[in-house]
Amino acid sequence: MKSGASGKDRPGTATSAVHAGCPAPRPGQPVVQPIVRSSTFYWSGPSDGVDLRYSRYGNNPNQISVAAKVAALEGTEAGLALASGMAAISSTILAAADAGDHVVASRHLYGATHALLAHELPRRGITTTFVDPGDPAAWGAALTPRTRVVLIELPTNPTLRVFDIGPARRAARSAGAILAADMTFATPVNIRAAEHGVDAVIHSATKYLGGHSDLIAGVVAGSRPLIEGVAKMMKLYGGSIDPQAAWLLERGMRTLPARMERHNRSAHALAEWFTGVEGVRQVLYPGLPSHPDHERAVRMLRGCGGMVSIVLNGGGEAADRFCSRLRLAVPAPSLGGVETLVSQPRHTSHVDLTSEEREALGIPDGFVRISVGLEDLEDLKADFRHAAATSPGRWAVEQATG
Ligand SMILES: Cc1ncc(COP(=O)(O)O)c(C=O)c1O
Repeated sequence: MKSGASGKDRPGTATSAVHAGCPAPRPGQPVVQPIVRSSTFYWSGPSDGVDLRYSRYGNNPNQISVAAKVAALEGTEAGLALASGMAAISSTILAAADAGDHVVASRHLYGATHALLAHELPRRGITTTFVDPGDPAAWGAALTPRTRVVLIELPTNPTLRVFDIGPARRAARSAGAILAADMTFATPVNIRAAEHGVDAVIHSATKYLGGHSDLIAGVVAGSRPLIEGVAKMMKLYGGSIDPQAAWLLERGMRTLPARMERHNRSAHALAEWFTGVEGVRQVLYPGLPSHPDHERAVRMLRGCGGMVSIVLNGGGEAADRFCSRLRLAVPAPSLGGVETLVSQPRHTSHVDLTSEEREALGIPDGFVRISVGLEDLEDLKADFRHAAATSPGRWAVEQATG
């Protein structure tokens, strides 16, 4: 392709989102790649001159298209789509680490990733040291001669911390390990992690990449050898994506930049609005100057994301009441869809911790995480105002909308 909006000799993000990975248009052929449900493909032998194709191998036409789109959006040599975000994470770690090897990981990780590293992989001889990602010295100090993976996640769930990638990258380089980053909350629209030295860029594509809460998928982007290693684990452990889900994901990704632009804008506006709401004790959004990582976030990210977290006065009871009174936003786990979703970490991701342990992590009872969707902002404000406007005198919301 010719030089695009990126100003370099490659198309811009929006153009890549629409066109990358799609077969070139030909007379009489469909503009949109059809879903190819066939699990296997005609192959009489090497003389056919084509690869042996089988959908568990990840080389069905829909799987190939979406993988190419992932690589184009992340600006990496190769990409891969898998059956879930967890398949992407586990296949990446298993590709890099053998029994006896070691992982250094941020303490701020998605719950299932933490469980995988803390409880499951040790059964297979792979151990993990968890570090405070905000302590630059912690990464290097945790390395062992067998460290093969350094893992970070950002922005983090649910406090939306944006930690510096530099110390994790330097630790990975000095150990000869790969730096893997779960960038689900950021998306390649807000940051291309490979440009910051991340070797394996991972997403739960169930979230923003799919964007419509109608599929489960994960992706990994990186160098060709790295992706070949991950694909090998995918084939052996069976974590390949179904062609139907690959097709839906590819369709969702076409609108990712347009959706993210609005997610970023609406979340920012809503975060500012929540700061004026009586009864809301704290608003967490990296785009607000009050956020601990605000300066880094605006320096590193093209947009501060579609997630906003609030802490209500009145603890868990107030949060339960708030969620039960919503008429537009949907109480449900997950995030990144076109519809606004709300969840309380004390009932979902952090249910196994005590109230005191959650409080120590900055997630007191009364904490509500909001995945801001694409609805009209005024309708969302009205919904949140209605949900908050109960028990007068306890945590009533301001009357003016601001
Ligand atoms: C940051 C993050 N990473 C990974 C996952 C796992 O993704 P999946 O549910 O697609 O396996 C999730 C799911 O919520 C997540 O939020």
